[in-house]
Amino acid sequence: MIHFPEQFGTPLSPNAIKVMLLGSGELGKEVIIAFQRLGVEVIAVDRYPNAPGHQVAHRFHVINMTDADALKALIALEKPHIVVPEIEAIATSTLKEMEAAGVVRVVPTANAAWLTMNREGIRCLAAEDLGLLCSHYAFASDFDTLQKAVEQGINGKSPIGYPCIIKPVMSSSGKGQSKVDGPAELKAAWDYAGSAGRVDAGRVIAEALVEFDYEITLLTVRSRDAATGLITTSYCDPVGHVQVSGDYVESWQPQAMSPVALDSAKHMADKVTTALGGTGLFGVEMFVKGDTVWFSEVSPRPHDTGMVTMITQWQNEFELHARAILGLPVDTSLKTPGASAVIYGGMEAAGIGFEGVAQALAEPGTDLRLFGKPESFAKRRMGVALARAADTDEARAKAKRVAGRVKPVPAK
Ligand SMILES: Nc1ncnc2c1ncn2[C@@H]1O[C@H](COP(=O)(O)OP(=O)(O)O)[C@@H](O)[C@H]1O
Ligand SMILES: [Mg+2]
Repeated sequence: MIHFPEQFGTPLSPNAIKVMLLGSGELGKEVIIAFQRLGVEVIAVDRYPNAPGHQVAHRFHVINMTDADALKALIALEKPHIVVPEIEAIATSTLKEMEAAGVVRVVPTANAAWLTMNREGIRCLAAEDLGLLCSHYAFASDFDTLQKAVEQGINGKSPIGYPCIIKPVMSSSGKGQSKVDGPAELKAAWDYAGSAGRVDAGRVIAEALVEFDYEITLLTVRSRDAATGLITTSYCDPVGHVQVSGDYVESWQPQAMSPVALDSAKHMADKVTTALGGTGLFGVEMFVKGDTVWFSEVSPRPHDTGMVTMITQWQNEFELHARAILGLPVDTSLKTPGASAVIYGGMEAAGIGFEGVAQALAEPGTDLRLFGKPESFAKRRMGVALARAADTDEARAKAKRVAGRVKPVPAK
């Protein structure tokens, strides 16, 4: 039984609904804005000060969220009603304990946050417990096991073979991930994964490469139905995207799919989100070839590729998340075809500037988010260009033009 607020309150007063965001990047920032619009009191947490979400919350804190004691102490101090994880690297076991003790409600559930922080948890759930079609995979904690898994097969499973993809079990945005075309490249991929893995350095997943036609994120919402009070599942139109080295560079909506593939995608998303439980928005990543759909992974929270919904939907993915969390009805319908294109920092510097913004936005049907990150790196996502058009091809071209016109420059 999920406990939803019975009434809405006034922030910074005794009846406020208090929500704590764990992770306050560009996605958290938009979730916070959606909560703010409903008069919710928001506490933003990140590992560094002045993170994007810090700048729009009622209060903010800087802690190492993988530190169980620090996390426990902060929750005890702020006493939020709801904890909303925005990132994977959190002491999720602590959240499980606190949720079990009735101290906080974790979105969508503490178990979902715990399972999805590690590729092993979610892959085993999807492939083994739920029987969803996934790429052929194996896990390894040392190079010998990895090599055996890829070239000979282990535990009675057939070899993964080449080409394959090696990823740290705990990483995101393609960090530590590489494609391996043959035996000579395997050791470098193992070393690279070990150097970039977040927490459990040294454990990897090897996946057979899926030769897909296209990949999608199916934004899936579990929310309370206003009429019945029961939890229902709804889907946004599929978001198509392009990833470079495992990191999203552009996305669009809707991605055209065959009716059979779309049905199968929805069926898989329903299964996996039902297993994770709770309410909120999920980004279910899938690969599609013809009518065949592979499950890849799922975020129990808004997805970076879903930023496109800020221009394509009546309720964007952040508003959908906030509404579903609060027990409110949702509308996942599309307003217009559109696209998003990422703006990278392109340099290592603090307090950078952006030129060409007015020229970029002079193109009708476009919009922009600059995240306000205090520090830029060459490959750090600093903003996103948005465009709407009659179809997604036109919207993609437009979004890329807008992104290209915004020029990051060093601080004056
Ligand atoms: N088995 C695979 N076959 C083909 N492409 C893959 C495979 N695994 C990952 N990719 C590509 O790499 C991207 C990032 O991989 P993903 O598992 O989603 O990692 P992350 O958690 O870093 O987002 C995917 O969106 C896809 O483009
Ligand atoms: Mg992914």
